[in-house]
Amino acid sequence: MNKKITFLILSGPTKEYIDPVRYISNESSGRMGSALAEVAIKKGYDVIFISGPAKVLPKDVKVIDVLTALDMFKATQLNFKKANIVINAAAVADYRSAKISKHKIKKDCTSSLMTIKLKQNPDIIKYCGENKKNQVIVGFALETKDLIKNALIKLKNKSLDLVIANGVGAFNSKNATVNIITPNSILEIKNRNKNIIAEKIINETVRIFKNIKLCKDNSRRL
Ligand code: C5P
Repeated sequence: MNKKITFLILSGPTKEYIDPVRYISNESSGRMGSALAEVAIKKGYDVIFISGPAKVLPKDVKVIDVLTALDMFKATQLNFKKANIVINAAAVADYRSAKISKHKIKKDCTSSLMTIKLKQNPDIIKYCGENKKNQVIVGFALETKDLIKNALIKLKNKSLDLVIANGVGAFNSKNATVNIITPNSILEIKNRNKNIIAEKIINETVRIFKNIKLCKDNSRRL
């Protein structure tokens, strides 16, 4: 059974260029995604790993490198059908520059204000939630307020099976406090190493996947 489960794990930040040298990005290190991939590999599962430009990458895992949210979306669409469980631990930029200037943008000395028009990126995990077929889809929710409330909204609106809710303290750190949320349960894990959290998340996703499979097999038998 183990060998047949394939994880698709998205990790790290994305970089959205404004001009040839400037970009919009965030502090995601890739630590959580890497920990998830390493745990899954250690347990004997297959892993397809897509990463933005991250500081931390998993050992013994082939990495599909991407830069922007659009690149990550394309790589996800290409690999989506091969996956039984999709976990998006990437900090995907919600917006990109509407236009990437061909040349470095010069300082305008006539005004101290400058405006950059942003365009919304596709929501990758929402696409996975809306297109799933017996797959388990997991998203992360990083919030600065109303953590559980917002995570529950995400779970529903993005058709996810599991949401991992954490505060900003989880960014770029080795430890985190997280809430593992399903439609009918919330488990809080306080200030633990991301490897331990990864182990819990992988076990929980496999449990949900096996349940879905069991229900499907039973309904076929009826
Ligand atoms: O709505 P919010 O961006 O806070 O949702 C967080 C979840 O959605 C994370 O799992 C994140 O990786 C994912 N996400 C995504 N595509 C985006 C933005 C966020 O898949 N464009």
